Amino acid sequence: MFEIKAKDNRGRVGVLKTQHGKVMTPALMPVIHPRKQTIDVKKYGADIVITNAYLIYKDPKLKQKALDEGLHKLIDFQGPVMTDSGSFQLSVYGDVDIGNTEVIDFQEQIGSDIGTSLDIPTAPYVDKEEARKDMEITIKRAQEAIEYRNNKNYNLKLNSVVQGSTFPDLRSECADRLTSLNADLYPIGAVVPLMEGYDYKNLVDVVMASVKNLPDNKPRHLMGAGHPMVFALCVAMGCDLFDSAAYILYAEDDRLLTTTGTIKLENLHEMPCSCEVCSKYTPDELRKLPKKERVELIAAHNLHVSFAELRRIRQAIYEGTLMELVELRCRAHPALLDAVRELGNYSEDLEKYDPSVKKSAFFYTGPESLKRATVTRHLEKLRNQPKKKDLIILGGGRKPYSKYYQGRLGRFHTLTGSQEQVNPEEADFMVLDIPFGLTPLDLDETYPLAQNVAPKILDDDSIEFLINTLAEFSEYYNQVLIHARPVREYGLDLPEYEHSHDIRFKKDDTRKIKAIANYQFQSDIGEQLFDGDLNIEKSKKTGKIRHIYDGEELIANMRASDANFVLSDEGAKRLHKNINYPNNRVVVDSSVEEFARDGKSVFSKFVVDIDSNIRAQDEVLITNSNDDLLAYGKVLLNPKEINDFNTGQAVKVRKGFK
Ligand code: GUN
Ligand code: ZN
Repeated sequence: MFEIKAKDNRGRVGVLKTQHGKVMTPALMPVIHPRKQTIDVKKYGADIVITNAYLIYKDPKLKQKALDEGLHKLIDFQGPVMTDSGSFQLSVYGDVDIGNTEVIDFQEQIGSDIGTSLDIPTAPYVDKEEARKDMEITIKRAQEAIEYRNNKNYNLKLNSVVQGSTFPDLRSECADRLTSLNADLYPIGAVVPLMEGYDYKNLVDVVMASVKNLPDNKPRHLMGAGHPMVFALCVAMGCDLFDSAAYILYAEDDRLLTTTGTIKLENLHEMPCSCEVCSKYTPDELRKLPKKERVELIAAHNLHVSFAELRRIRQAIYEGTLMELVELRCRAHPALLDAVRELGNYSEDLEKYDPSVKKSAFFYTGPESLKRATVTRHLEKLRNQPKKKDLIILGGGRKPYSKYYQGRLGRFHTLTGSQEQVNPEEADFMVLDIPFGLTPLDLDETYPLAQNVAPKILDDDSIEFLINTLAEFSEYYNQVLIHARPVREYGLDLPEYEHSHDIRFKKDDTRKIKAIANYQFQSDIGEQLFDGDLNIEKSKKTGKIRHIYDGEELIANMRASDANFVLSDEGAKRLHKNINYPNNRVVVDSSVEEFARDGKSVFSKFVVDIDSNIRAQDEVLITNSNDDLLAYGKVLLNPKEINDFNTGQAVKVRKGFK
């Protein structure tokens, strides 16, 4: 029913399949009022809409029409339609006169594509007893709805709504228990008051606590989120669907949505975008129109802006620039800045979902960028690298660093350690820089270290980050020497130099390819992978390493875009021989062994085990349970996603071994 096409952080571009067609996600479902609707939302890019089954049920005329002619005819929309159950009315009016199974029956009878059980939206900041009590009812009703639907063989797909108020532990528990019910979609409920109160920081905690326990193969809907200002942030946390009554509610109040906030028509001097409405009318002309006409035009603008933002978000996911967009959007309001800073506390979780290589460069937009998954992963990988005896710190040079520092003689001062004479052969050379903290010279052309841009003048957070990173890594070495330049240039507050040496950095391709292999495969594999009579072939045009041979035999190609290795048959065999099971491996069921050997893609369903350190876009080995090497290829999803999905590709196989 759901398939992932592209990923960035927890964000995904996906396809949701329904009986009334496919929907590209992240998607916005305009709320259709069954009685009052006058706007044709399809015209503005809506592929799916949401309406309220309870409002239809309550109105005898609508109810009859929906039962006779169907929901799609009633609201005049031929694409997928989701229905809500009346829970929101329950939360506002305290009661609804429909039962849980009754509302399921009704949604099925009127032909809804996706229905909802009667969850209880618990307000934020209630006491925990109450939140738990409501949550138990919500879970019980979700279970009842699914069992009822299954027994009756209904076509209706079902939402199970995550509740739990503002208690992250309750949200996590609710998500976990709903997961075992195997619902079709997982909305996150009762967040409207948080958004109305600009409490985006708590929104982050609520959403992150929920998604971490939801299955990755089901779409998630952030209920009642319809302001384009928050879409990017929420997509980065793993939300796939939004619904908007905002487009019409704001229009009725003469307010125009933009990606940076809301503007009242009375304050408008210039139209805010270049949509049909904004191109055709001036603010004065719009103000003079009769109310009904004006509302429709503003609603049209609001829809246009919302769909344009979702297109931009999907593009950012394909490019790998979603966090740049999130950080940009979160500068629109201080409360959103709090939210993106809060999201920084979830970097380790986001890292698990973030692809290991991306097509775009990393742009530093502010101190929040230092908490991105890409930085967290780099430092974690660096911690796990084999280390030489001493560490030499450089700073302030031009990129590519290895070229800039090649042969340069420098005076280095002892920062920590024994003050012995340093042998450059037994030292790691790293540049102290933003955004990655430390860039080993041998890795300076490898993603993400080569592809990044940061300002020349450092802010205080960046300086603190550099000092902390340096302090941490100093502990892994016998002696740390530092060049005067970073100290001077960054104004680092470091201890007095005590001793100095002259040291020259020398480029060495063999050392470099081994270092890249260690970094890429997260194992001390460089020596064994590149053992033998090495022949390093470079591009005549760019001078960059392209192919590595042992004698005549190709071991690996270096991809030009990110300087990561793509293995050959021999390279895969060496990796397999020298890295222990189950590292770097995707283990498949014996039933698909021959497909893998034939070079066909591996599907998630047939993966029986996978190294938990693997990330989307990694180059991996494919084996059977006896650890026979069947093939090698590129992983498309992370281990949790592969585990959760029962359909779709897990590994694009590059080549199989017959
Ligand atoms: N619409 C906005 N929030 C909610 C919620 O928590 N539950 C349901 N069913 N609908 C909503
Ligand atoms: Zn406009």
